[in-house]
Amino acid sequence: MFNTRITEILKIKYPIMQGGLQHLGTPELASAVCNAGGLGTINATICPTIPEFRDAIRKVKSLTKNPFCVNVSMLPTLSLGELTPEYFKVIVEEGVPVVETAGRNPEEFVPLLKQAGIILIHKVPSVKFAKKVEKIGVDIVTIVGLECGGHPGMDNITTMILGNKTAKALKIPVLIGGGIADGAGLVAALALGGEGIVMGSRFVATDECIIHPNFKEWMVNASENDTILIQRSIKNMLRSMKNHAALNCLEMEKRGVGLQELLGAISGNLGKKCQMEGDLENGIFAIGQVIGLIDEVKTAKKVIDDIIQEAEIVMTKLYKSTL
Ligand SMILES: Cc1cc2nc3c(=O)[nH]c(=O)nc-3n(C[C@H](O)[C@H](O)[C@H](O)COP(=O)(O)O)c2cc1C
Repeated sequence: MFNTRITEILKIKYPIMQGGLQHLGTPELASAVCNAGGLGTINATICPTIPEFRDAIRKVKSLTKNPFCVNVSMLPTLSLGELTPEYFKVIVEEGVPVVETAGRNPEEFVPLLKQAGIILIHKVPSVKFAKKVEKIGVDIVTIVGLECGGHPGMDNITTMILGNKTAKALKIPVLIGGGIADGAGLVAALALGGEGIVMGSRFVATDECIIHPNFKEWMVNASENDTILIQRSIKNMLRSMKNHAALNCLEMEKRGVGLQELLGAISGNLGKKCQMEGDLENGIFAIGQVIGLIDEVKTAKKVIDDIIQEAEIVMTKLYKSTL
């Protein structure tokens, strides 16, 4: 059940992907998702150096025999000191089966990945970008709507609209993300024409995720009203936990402070420190509205098993309603 072109292309059991998670996409989490039949992802940026990146890939390989993915989140333009070209070199050398890119058009790396037989998934927040990257030869497009944790587009369009429209517009398969955490969400995404789902927030509230337990507890108790959109003023919109750091960022944006001052307030290093130490207020924590649907911390395997079981129940109910 739930076999799609995505399960075929990626050679996975269920059409469920754990999207890249800055600071949190570790080999342990990714391999747990892979071993449960989904596609788990490690983030290149969790590794400060290239040797550590190579070790992380080898660690995943030692923890799962199933296909896995590496997320390479890129800056809008190639910047001095950016490790992206080196990441791709290691990805090819280590025979990584699947890559997820996000942030900017991955066109310059497509020939390299194609030649190496690596499946390329590119994540976009708009139909326009989805059509553009289909043309450059990516294998799968992920579309994420306004609800998502991390970076939605600047246009405030929800997953319901974007998923539907993108699936209709493209010939290649589409993964739908943003606001999905359960079986009903999987069925809805498939009904919209998607061939699988991407989840980020749901996989943060798992036993395998390294984030401090304070954050997992907060997620279980939080509602869909507890996130906020920030960073619109720097055209890098982010949905994050509504905490002191995010409200402060928004206030600074309203005051029109300069980029450098703002970057200090939204520092990734500070966010990471807070996420590891359990400080809920002083760092930015990307998270989606779907926290309103998450009421339990469980293993990645249980997340996936429950989604499949719930989806089957939903399908049966729907089928019965048509008789
Ligand atoms: C804590 C967190 C960190 C994220 N970091 C990244 C990242 O580094 N790169 C990326 O492409 N997407 C990142 N995302 C987005 C997810 O991969 C995924 O697209 C998104 O979470 C889907 O929406 P959902 O949160 O409603 O499931 C992140 C999401 C979260 C919640």
